[in-house]
Amino acid sequence: MKFFLDTANIDEIREANATGLLDGVTTNPSLIKKAGRDFFEVIAEIANEVDGPVSAETVSHDHETMLKEGFKCAEIADNIAVKVPLTLNGLKTCKALRAEGIMVNVTLCFSANQALLAAKAGASFISPFVGRHDDVGFDGMELISDIRTIYDNYDFGTEILVASVRHPTHVLDSALIGADVATFPWDVMKKLFNHPLTTNGLAGFDKDWAATGFSIL
Ligand code: G3P
Repeated sequence: MKFFLDTANIDEIREANATGLLDGVTTNPSLIKKAGRDFFEVIAEIANEVDGPVSAETVSHDHETMLKEGFKCAEIADNIAVKVPLTLNGLKTCKALRAEGIMVNVTLCFSANQALLAAKAGASFISPFVGRHDDVGFDGMELISDIRTIYDNYDFGTEILVASVRHPTHVLDSALIGADVATFPWDVMKKLFNHPLTTNGLAGFDKDWAATGFSIL
């Protein structure tokens, strides 16, 4: 499963990238606001830092303007995936951008039928928001499982990019279901490394090693 970082914070991206485990980045208008930097400047910097896809989101709702925005975003770098919302106009835009060979990430997906439409529109990625789905009393992971079944039934190449990931269990469940990508904040990524038994085990080894008086180097 690929790991994307869900942020427009370049320092966090650099830290995550240094692990060698980062496969891409996703941004959205809220994350751009949080970063407090010029949209084009920050997206170009991220795209230069990371080898994999970097999602840059369109903001208009009508097809014509959204398409123009999509082309402008795609010009920033070769690894840009243009993000469009899961609306009728968003999927029209997706189809048009894909016809030009531009990567497209269809976002704000909350139903398996929406994911089916996105795949038919040729989306490179579909972004179901599991945390927000859980927030309103639905089971976000059931949605991921349904999308996996539908995409496998018809051999769709659209990658399932699990978004709105809030904790390590979301990552684990996504991997068990066979999602292609999970995108999460740096805080969640750091938690994936941790286990109390690893910490305790290391403390025990440190103590015993110190008692031996040996040195490896
Ligand atoms: O990946 C989408 C994400 O940025 C939304 O996350 O936690 O605001 O639902 P959240």
